[in-house]
Amino acid sequence: MTETLIWTVCLLLATLVPTTIQHKMKRELGKGDSTEWQQLWYSNFEEYQRLTEPSFDNNTVSNVTVQLGGTAFLHCRVRNLGERTISWVRRRDWHILTSGVFTYTNDERFQVLHAEGTDDWTLQIKYLQKRDNGTYECQVSTGTGIMSHFVNLHIVVPEAYIVGSGEHHIDLGSVISLVCMIDKSPQPPQYVFWFHNNRMINYDTARGGISVETESGPKTQSKLTIRDAHDVDSGNYTCSASNTEPASVFVFVSEGDKMAAISRRKSSSGSDVIANFLWFIVVPLVTLAAR
Ligand SMILES: *[C@@H]1O[C@H](CO)[C@@H](O)[C@H](O)[C@H]1NC(C)=O
Ligand SMILES: *[C@@H]1O[C@H](CO)[C@@H](O)[C@H](O)[C@H]1NC(C)=O
Ligand SMILES: *[C@@H]1O[C@H](CO)[C@@H](O)[C@H](O)[C@H]1NC(C)=O
Ligand SMILES: *[C@@H]1O[C@H](CO)[C@@H](O)[C@H](O)[C@H]1NC(C)=O
Repeated sequence: MTETLIWTVCLLLATLVPTTIQHKMKRELGKGDSTEWQQLWYSNFEEYQRLTEPSFDNNTVSNVTVQLGGTAFLHCRVRNLGERTISWVRRRDWHILTSGVFTYTNDERFQVLHAEGTDDWTLQIKYLQKRDNGTYECQVSTGTGIMSHFVNLHIVVPEAYIVGSGEHHIDLGSVISLVCMIDKSPQPPQYVFWFHNNRMINYDTARGGISVETESGPKTQSKLTIRDAHDVDSGNYTCSASNTEPASVFVFVSEGDKMAAISRRKSSSGSDVIANFLWFIVVPLVTLAAR
């Protein structure tokens, strides 16, 4: 009789204790952390993984921006893939590019990168062309349907432009300062060369007074400075970056602005009129008298 009672109590304890522990754990983890909770529920993580479907958020979208000619890496991470295969599909024409580690296109620029035992199935596209711009879908078939991850691949074409209008008017003796911007270039250009007409002047030592400062970055900026501008410095200035079409402006070096400044002064205040009177009438008279 007592033996039976002890056994009953033991059995009750055996069923109650784990349940209370589990309840306690559940409370501590909070309602939102169901995954974490499930991970603890199963005695070990491997078992938990084995029992679940491929882990993949359906219909997620990510953006990748790469410049023309570069290499794109479109990432897709799937846990618990098991025996299933990952396919990459180009949405433009529904072409299946890769399935598992195999490539189903003659275009050798496409390749799937996957290291055995990892969760990454990366689609690599080399020597990017404008027509590669578009949406790519990484998909996996599961018991409940197809799950997809979308990647929008944006192809950008780097552009160079020189700040200001197409014509720059510079006073004789002043500083020519031109700024070239390299836009839409996630990878900075390898070089930016400046040309005066057809001559490269980055390292010009013959003339002197020329400096080029290039700050590389997502928006590369190159500044050309030429001190003490002369007539011969007039002409076509071109900024040529490694990854863009060149950009050019025309520079006119002239005394034009000095003359304009004088005529502006003539017609302004009374003291200026006196100053000009002294300059144009008195000074020549004094000079004549001194002879
Ligand atoms: C992707 O780009 C679109 C617009 O082109 C934007 O609405 C969306 O939020 C971006 N997604 C991510 C994950 O950055
Ligand atoms: C993923 O979403 C698509 C579109 O909403 C749906 O057709 C498909 O059944 C979903 N897959 C799963 C496994 O839920
Ligand atoms: C593809 O190019 C068009 C036009 O240039 C642009 O509007 C679109 O957003 C691009 N799509 C992607 C996914 O980059
Ligand atoms: C400057 O020279 C380049 C190449 O020499 C030429 O393509 C461009 O049209 C010229 N620009 C101007 C403003 O003359």
